[in-house]
Amino acid sequence: EVATPRNPSEEEVADNFAFAFDIDGVLVRGGNPIPEAIEAMKMLNGENEYGIRVPYIFLTNGGGKTEAERCGDLSKQLELEVSPGQFICGHTPMRELVDKYRGAVLVIGGEGEKCRHVAEGYGFKDVITPGDIIKANSHVAPFRKLTEAEHANSRDLLLRGDLSDIVIEAVFVFADSRDWASDLQIILDVAMSKGGRLETRSETFDEGPPIYFSHSDIVWSAAHEHVRLGMGALRRIVETVFSDVTGGKELITHAFGKPQVGTFEFATRLLQKWRATQHGLVDSSPPDTVYFVGDTPESDVRGTNAMDAKSDNEWYSILVKTGVYEEGTEPAYKPRATVNTVLDAVRHGIDREM
Ligand code: G3P
Ligand code: MG
Repeated sequence: EVATPRNPSEEEVADNFAFAFDIDGVLVRGGNPIPEAIEAMKMLNGENEYGIRVPYIFLTNGGGKTEAERCGDLSKQLELEVSPGQFICGHTPMRELVDKYRGAVLVIGGEGEKCRHVAEGYGFKDVITPGDIIKANSHVAPFRKLTEAEHANSRDLLLRGDLSDIVIEAVFVFADSRDWASDLQIILDVAMSKGGRLETRSETFDEGPPIYFSHSDIVWSAAHEHVRLGMGALRRIVETVFSDVTGGKELITHAFGKPQVGTFEFATRLLQKWRATQHGLVDSSPPDTVYFVGDTPESDVRGTNAMDAKSDNEWYSILVKTGVYEEGTEPAYKPRATVNTVLDAVRHGIDREM
């Protein structure tokens, strides 16, 4: 018997499965929704032949804005309410490092002051940006001139004494660099410093602070017909050039985001909370299956499959053809299913369950 969809509040909630979505290349491309995404969301919200609502979360490697602001954007793009309670971006898990680094941290990437605000919102107390450093010493980046607004918004580090009085405890690349040359220079300066102390040079090049990237995607799916370079490309450049300028020393940096299993475990905890608060499902029982819909084999499929191998419940990878993955090529990591669009992915999951 097929139930007719009723008032959403009266619809049944699927308690044994859930969905998780990548954003760029699956739901959105270049700031615009992929048309099938809007219908896919409606289908999850009860507009399906079974009249069930299916819990879902979003897990993107993107970032550069607060989770609340990103959810505001996504709500408009998908024409439905998206809550920070169901949303993880590349830098979200970094907030768990707040207690580890209580001093100065260097935050890289994003528009204007947005990433500083994100970091401060997570609780980092002393957030320094490349703009602050260039404002204090313009010779740091010979070809970068701060705009008037950047100059005005940057902090005045010299009020604290010399730049060499400041010790960077960790570097966080929160979002894509808007000026690769000066950001690369400043990351390398800190990596080559004496224990993170600005304007100093180590003699051994093995005492710089840890460097965290919010993900490691070499490419991603934006508005252009071909994929665009992403943060992972900057990470590779940082590591390679560090070796070049230090006579062959190795720099080991850290990445959050997909495909790290830790990010999927973070997602599991969020999904548990979301199922409980939004759908009234018991906090302690995870869904039997989580369908993860992504467009990038190296991040989405790889991470989902690794999580599936590690966890008690099933993580089922679905690859779509609207983003990084190109039809006709062999994906480096094999999904459980490959479909055209996110709408087909949702149908696939629901049909497999019902
Ligand atoms: O910069 C964002 C991009 O690398 C990937 O975003 O949503 O496809 O994980 P997403
Ligand atoms: Mg993607």
